[in-house]
Amino acid sequence: MNVLVVGSGGREHALCWGIAASPLLEKLYCAPGNGGIAADAECVSLDTANNDAVVRWCRTNKIELVVVGPEVPLVAGLVDALRDAGIPAFGPTAKAAILEGSKAFMKDLCAKYDIPTAAYGRFRDASAAKDYVRKAGTRVVVKADGLAAGKGVRMCETAAEAEAAIDAMLAGEFGAAGTEIVVEEYLTGEEVSYFALVHGEQVLPFGSAQDHKRVGDGDTGPNTGGMGAYSPAPALTPALEAQVLETIIRPTAKAMVREGRPFTGVLFAGLMLTATGPKLLEYNVRFGDPECQVLVPRLKSDLLTVLMAAQQGILNKVDMRWYTDTALCIVMAAKGYPGAYAKSSPIGGLEAAAKLPGVTVFHAGTTKDGATIRANGGRVLGVTALGKDAREAQARAYAAVDAIQWPEGFCRRDIGWRAVLA
Ligand code: AMP
Ligand code: GLY
Repeated sequence: MNVLVVGSGGREHALCWGIAASPLLEKLYCAPGNGGIAADAECVSLDTANNDAVVRWCRTNKIELVVVGPEVPLVAGLVDALRDAGIPAFGPTAKAAILEGSKAFMKDLCAKYDIPTAAYGRFRDASAAKDYVRKAGTRVVVKADGLAAGKGVRMCETAAEAEAAIDAMLAGEFGAAGTEIVVEEYLTGEEVSYFALVHGEQVLPFGSAQDHKRVGDGDTGPNTGGMGAYSPAPALTPALEAQVLETIIRPTAKAMVREGRPFTGVLFAGLMLTATGPKLLEYNVRFGDPECQVLVPRLKSDLLTVLMAAQQGILNKVDMRWYTDTALCIVMAAKGYPGAYAKSSPIGGLEAAAKLPGVTVFHAGTTKDGATIRANGGRVLGVTALGKDAREAQARAYAAVDAIQWPEGFCRRDIGWRAVLA
């Protein structure tokens, strides 16, 4: 069959790499793709923000499954447009993608269906929000309701910080995404990510991961899209995983059906393991980046078959198999990221790195310039390794990083420290 993957990051490279290995595949395309994806798929320059253009292109190229990587086209209804045109697509409709598109919607759903999450209020008015902070009398987190490219969350240590965040967001710091805000209880505990394929009320667990959001070693410095990840997350014991499925994931799938917003695709729960049990921090309606780069290499079953089963609603028929290995991904980014950075420096040693045991190098912001791979973004590579445990995966991944010659790039040297200690 012919498949189109939408997106251009490391997540989409991992999806293309997995799908490319499927015996069901005839031809794989990726729009727009990147310099590394070009090895697994034909990259096509297609305006993926234009739903009609994507539909037309899929018709011309006889696409039988579209896999949408990022949240923006999902929230903008790309899956709806494809389905209306009779083109199967993996991912939620806009009505279901609201789980990520509106934090206020997600919080109200949790309240209505008794899904454990931080106590919260939703506000359009600054004085009401500040009242809430005063009455709460504890640390709070202030969040823009809508999509803000991962930047719309402020962890506030003091009431003064909370008031400043409330004023800034309601004054338009994040544009329309911050017309409404959520103010919520500041939870403490260990954070883990959990993934499940969902079709209506059908739920198929897809594993756990932990990522490193801060740019610097020791989890310091500004937040980024993610500087590394590993899977599975040792903190999520089988008992906790069962609790997450029964108290959070399954009730959400059921609630979305009841609300007339049945979910299809991958549900990515950001969780806090608190002293009183796992609580939902946020939902994403797509795979994580770089979490996808550590989930896909652990999957023994055929990825394309599994994604199709989610799209078709036959998740109960899937024979899910996983390698018992740990996967660990180190993100190499351009110096300066998450601030300003230069583009187009050449990257060497990629082939030598990829030959090391257990290693796969996923590309994010790269372009192919003849035989040369050049940096073309902030997060540039996801150097991933499988190992029998976190320690081995970490050693293999850093050996691969050290085989790559890219003086204009950097990475953290402590990815996976928690898992190695576990
Ligand atoms: P979100 O986009 O809502 O997941 O928030 C981004 C990050 O902020 C999360 O991954 C957490 O590290 C942190 N965070 C969000 N909400 C809370 C909360 N209620 N308590 C503590 N940390 C939070
Ligand atoms: N790594 C976090 C995310 O993809 O949202």
